[in-house]
Amino acid sequence: MALSSQLRIDFPTLDQHVGGKPLVYLDNGATTQKPRSVIDALARYYELDNSNVHRGLHALSMRATDGYEAARARAAKFINAAAPAEIIFTRGTTESINLVAQSWGPANLKPGDVILTTEMEHHSNLVPWQQLAHRTGATLKYVPVAGADAEHGLDLDALDALLTPQVKLFAFTHLSNTLGVLNDAVALCAKARAVGAITVIDAAQSIGHEPIDVQAIGCDFLAFSGHKMAGPTGIGVLYGRRKLLDTMPPYQTGGGMVVSVTYEGATWKPSPERFEAGTPNVADAIGLHAAFDYLDQVGRPAIAAHDFALGERACVALAELPGIRIIGPKPGKPRGGLVSFAFNEAHAHDVVTFADQDGIALRGGHHCNQPLMRKLGLTSTTRASFFVYNTEEEIDLLVKSMRRILKFFAG
Ligand code: ALA
Repeated sequence: MALSSQLRIDFPTLDQHVGGKPLVYLDNGATTQKPRSVIDALARYYELDNSNVHRGLHALSMRATDGYEAARARAAKFINAAAPAEIIFTRGTTESINLVAQSWGPANLKPGDVILTTEMEHHSNLVPWQQLAHRTGATLKYVPVAGADAEHGLDLDALDALLTPQVKLFAFTHLSNTLGVLNDAVALCAKARAVGAITVIDAAQSIGHEPIDVQAIGCDFLAFSGHKMAGPTGIGVLYGRRKLLDTMPPYQTGGGMVVSVTYEGATWKPSPERFEAGTPNVADAIGLHAAFDYLDQVGRPAIAAHDFALGERACVALAELPGIRIIGPKPGKPRGGLVSFAFNEAHAHDVVTFADQDGIALRGGHHCNQPLMRKLGLTSTTRASFFVYNTEEEIDLLVKSMRRILKFFAG
């Protein structure tokens, strides 16, 4: 775990006390802290280059345009997209998925078609497909999540049965924000391709934690947010295969995405401009560029090893506490860098409030996953999620805090 101790100094937010205790930040699934290099890139942009892009012929506008387009090229390199034109900047994962649903969907779906997703999706990879099904008459189906004995993984036999030629789109999460389940994206995309379905991957929880190569995965679309990978809020990416993007109508219309406009109509630029109407989020794209550089400098395989090992360590320790149930993969089973658990006697909101008194930041609730919670017979779980700067000592503090809470509620 040497990684974390070397890196903590890069993250100024971590150097503070909460309620008199040193901050233990374990809510990285919700958002990660930002390294100094990202904060500096944002400040430098606003101090030196702030201007509008793709419009001006003056020095600042050209510098801003260069910075924005360099961020796009860097994003393409980060996920091994074939070209920068396959990278569309959005506000985040939610907007990326909505873009696919609203642009690709209506032109490609009709009654009788099937949209397939899974029971473990975040609302952002579920509600847009519900709305699309209502709008087009297509049917929305879900790959079931297996029971606790099967570690709450996807039921792959059920998936095989559901994958008929009627399925036109299969959307799934790479790493469940609620369960810590890691899905085999390569295998799932291959299965979908075999029936002619396109694939949409929600990579919000995996992008900052492990190497992602969209060409090796073989997906058609992949969505992620900057703020969960050490980058700024308000910026995200939709990767789309060029051939598909070129067939899709704009998601929003306005300035910057048109070739020509008359009082009667307009024609569109190709991707990515077609999908980026209005002034884009230049500053945060430049901040995101710095985050890509930071994660690659640390090394994504090393980050994956570190974060996943912390997830396992926390899972093993928490599983030993009587009165706590692990939700998702059990100790010793593959998991991402997070652990979700339920107390027999305490609500997750109380657990998070108690942990906060110990300086520990956790998330408690339904994790934007209400149907899954209902299916699991839960109203909420407590979640600890890890990133490059977390340490084994912080896991020990988490476990100590959970013991204190168990004792309080038992008493
Ligand atoms: N989607 C974020 C989470 O899982 C907010 O916490």
